[in-house]
Amino acid sequence: MRRKIVAGNWKMNGNRQIASDLAVGVSAIVEGLDRSIEVLIAPPFILMAEVAGQISSNVNLASQDVSGFDNGAFTGEISADMLVDIGCRYSIVGHSERRALFGDTDDVVAVKVAKCIEKNIQPILCVGETLEERESGKIFEVIGNQLRAALKGLDKAQLDNVIVAYEPVWAIGTGKTATPEQAQEVHAYIRNEIATIDEAISDVISIIYGGSVNAGNAKNLFAMADIDGGLIGGASLKLEEFEVICKAIG
Ligand code: PGA
Repeated sequence: MRRKIVAGNWKMNGNRQIASDLAVGVSAIVEGLDRSIEVLIAPPFILMAEVAGQISSNVNLASQDVSGFDNGAFTGEISADMLVDIGCRYSIVGHSERRALFGDTDDVVAVKVAKCIEKNIQPILCVGETLEERESGKIFEVIGNQLRAALKGLDKAQLDNVIVAYEPVWAIGTGKTATPEQAQEVHAYIRNEIATIDEAISDVISIIYGGSVNAGNAKNLFAMADIDGGLIGGASLKLEEFEVICKAIG
């Protein structure tokens, strides 16, 4: 069975009070959901401990990034061990903002994915094309390259722990969502690519969609055959909207 996942990516927003209020609010939302739905929240690193102390056991803590290095002389980095120590078991890896603004190349992303797996953190591997790449007919080439680069070297048991997020760059924070059909087309492609590595895992791996998901469009996106949930940015900061999105997957 494929897991249904709704993940809130708070990005660089909030403060201790806001984070604490959201953590309590999300915990209450999850109380009313079917237990089969996995709800994750990814606060900024500095707010993770605060959030860890406030969420119920049914809410999962995720990080927005992770270092590819082990503990040591890496100023400014946060290690997988540190994340595990505060109860974090998921990490977003290769988000397009990290790729575009902070130098996360395919090679860096591959190292981070491998580090997550080594430390028992489930990586949420983000892939997605820019508008220019879409318009020049390169969607599948770009996504295929990102996927293969990030997953190379993983054995089947390791691949089983990966969650993939399709996030078209042109849809992130822009209010322009991919249509359910556009998203489904790419999700099906991703599943087929994974089938070339392992057929059985391609059936069960969760592939979630991100990019301007909101209370109004979530249901139609989640209804598509290969869309197993969402990675939610802006709308995850608004409890009422996040609740509608979580319920849309039920
Ligand atoms: P958005 O962000 O929902 O604000 O478009 C999604 C993401 O970047 O994960």
